[in-house]
Amino acid sequence: MAFLEVKNYRKRFGGNEVLKGISFSLEKGEVLAIIGSSGGGKTTLLRCLNFLEVPDEGELYLGGEKLFDAGEELKSSGAGIREKRLHFGLVFQQFNLFPQYTVFKNVSLAQSLLAKQSFARKKADFARDLREAAKSERQRLQERQKAEIAGLVAERKREDKAARSEYLAALRAMRSEHAAALRAARKAAFGAQASSGPQGADKAKQEKILAGLKESQKKERADFSAKFRQEREAALAAHREALHRKRAEHAAALEKASDVPSLSSEQIQARKAEQKVVLAEIRANQKARIEEKTESLLARVGLSEKRDSYPYELSGGQQQRVAIARALALNPDILCFDEPTSALDPELTGEVLKVIKGLKSSDSTMIVVTHEMEFARNVADHVIFMADGVIEEEGTPSEVFDHPKSEKTASFLRKSTEDLF
Ligand SMILES: Nc1ncnc2c1ncn2[C@@H]1O[C@H](COP(=O)(O)OP(=O)(O)OP(=O)(O)O)[C@@H](O)[C@H]1O
Ligand SMILES: [Mg+2]
Repeated sequence: MAFLEVKNYRKRFGGNEVLKGISFSLEKGEVLAIIGSSGGGKTTLLRCLNFLEVPDEGELYLGGEKLFDAGEELKSSGAGIREKRLHFGLVFQQFNLFPQYTVFKNVSLAQSLLAKQSFARKKADFARDLREAAKSERQRLQERQKAEIAGLVAERKREDKAARSEYLAALRAMRSEHAAALRAARKAAFGAQASSGPQGADKAKQEKILAGLKESQKKERADFSAKFRQEREAALAAHREALHRKRAEHAAALEKASDVPSLSSEQIQARKAEQKVVLAEIRANQKARIEEKTESLLARVGLSEKRDSYPYELSGGQQQRVAIARALALNPDILCFDEPTSALDPELTGEVLKVIKGLKSSDSTMIVVTHEMEFARNVADHVIFMADGVIEEEGTPSEVFDHPKSEKTASFLRKSTEDLF
């Protein structure tokens, strides 16, 4: 299986089906270029890959693992989606930098947020550890016992609910069976038309027989209900009895448990102090790692000397390079670009393309939606031409650009070269 496998992605907005079954795969370290005319669904595809949109159908596998399945999507939570999104980095056409933050902060922000979260988790772990240490054996046992009783009660409730719905279903079935039997008996006695049925004394006799049947059905149902109630009572009594025994057992165990806390209050204070040191170390390490990483990313996109500038102080090309550094900051498995140069003047386009080309030599796996045919030809390992929500044609750059099989591809390529002149 390839590193990335997209299977049969479909997406519609209202009545407009924008992706009509897109499937492709990508190996690790490969660059995929997506070209195609405006409105063909390229941005929508990238947004679906980044979970900014949820596909209506399809599956996505990354590194052999299923990351997304439209059929199971209802189960996945917001946190789940955020986690999945970390596998992908997205660079937009319009950079989308935070204007109020410096270059450094734009690039380091997501790392800081993640570091903060992991710091908070560690702190909570430590606090829990302290709380546990302050408890006596008896307190811990008591908590376990409480949980055990709650489990028994919950289980009994579940069983009771299941038994009740089974009873109600059986009673409903019995009712309709009885009604059918009564109808059949009435029909047998009186026939379809009243005129062909029995007359006088005979009729009265038949009515009596029917009334008897009805009565015996009613009794059968009443018996069934009484039996259910009896069984329910018995089950409840058994449950109460079991709880009673369990509680007695618990009380006996509790008698024997020690009342002395696991750690003395001096020991607790000492542990607290140790934790404080560890937490301070973690925070300092995080800060140093983020600094180092951010510096190296800025060097990679050639913007080390701009670390303290604000976005408005940068050219479009520089802003886009900051956006690239930001997308790289969380080490995404796949970096996606949506027309990264189309908002740039031609002279700034080159510097951004150079950075993207540099990423290829460092083995990043990338998907680039682009209008730059020369760039696609030179950098991509694989080219997809998208039109009207389908992959019209795909292959190596030479296959797609030099020997297009589809007339639509050929015509698109002709037009895009004409635009150059
Ligand atoms: N959020 C949305 N709601 C409704 N329709 C949308 C939405 N996003 C995209 N579309 C529609 O989906 C179709 C494909 O749009 P998309 O932006 O994916 O095309 P594209 O290939 O990226 O085009 P371009 O080359 O112009 O960027 C268009 O018809 C667009 O109007
Ligand atoms: Mg687009």
